Amino acid sequence: MTNKDVIIACDFASAGQTLAFLDLFKEEKPFVKIGMELFYAEGAPIVREIKRRGHKIFLDLKLHDIPNTVKKAMAVLSRLDIDMCNVHAAGTIEMMRYALEGLTRPDGTRPLLIAVTQLTSTSEERMQNELLIDATINDCIVKYARNTREAGLDGVVCSPLEARMVKDACGEGFLTVTPGVRFADGDKADQVRVTTPARAREIGSDYIVVGRPITAADDPVAAYRRCVAEFLGNEGR
Ligand code: C5P
Repeated sequence: MTNKDVIIACDFASAGQTLAFLDLFKEEKPFVKIGMELFYAEGAPIVREIKRRGHKIFLDLKLHDIPNTVKKAMAVLSRLDIDMCNVHAAGTIEMMRYALEGLTRPDGTRPLLIAVTQLTSTSEERMQNELLIDATINDCIVKYARNTREAGLDGVVCSPLEARMVKDACGEGFLTVTPGVRFADGDKADQVRVTTPARAREIGSDYIVVGRPITAADDPVAAYRRCVAEFLGNEGR
């Protein structure tokens, strides 16, 4: 059984901005995503501080290197006591297996590990012409998702609109973590293929990753609560 949740993409440039944002939340402790910008600027201390405050953390660093290097890097990340992290499925099944090994702590516990299939910024045309992948983008996503499952990982990052296809190929228990979520009455900004929290749930998303609809809202706490209510429906938190 998975714990469905809303993950806030904390795409801030500094620890100060991030902590000021999290200070707005007096009652709930949202699951937060830390990306490359914040991690490269502030490093491990910001991860430890957010964890100390009681938040779950998805560290979105999308590792992709030779298996041994990824394994060692993952061992370092797992000591940060994060809850979820990721790799590129393009690194191969072997790289993903090594990542999983590196992430597993001596006591057998580990953060969730998910894989990026094809970035949503990669068009089918570019994938075929520049990466020389002779397939449709959907076939590529399904193949990479199957590789991810074969390597023993927990799921993939994908568009909510791809979540059904991934579940059909890999099973209901295989996690889908989906950015590209907008309120029905909201601004899409630079996202193209978007859907609402309620629809993401219907399609099968386990975790939705929501940034600007919450971080740039006049009242971020109200926007977060609305997102949770729409995504989790009657289940509450
Ligand atoms: O502000 P917004 O809701 O668009 O933020 C979505 C977050 O999810 C950002 O951190 C973005 O980098 C990330 N993401 C995405 N699409 C992907 C993978 C990650 O939007 N395919």
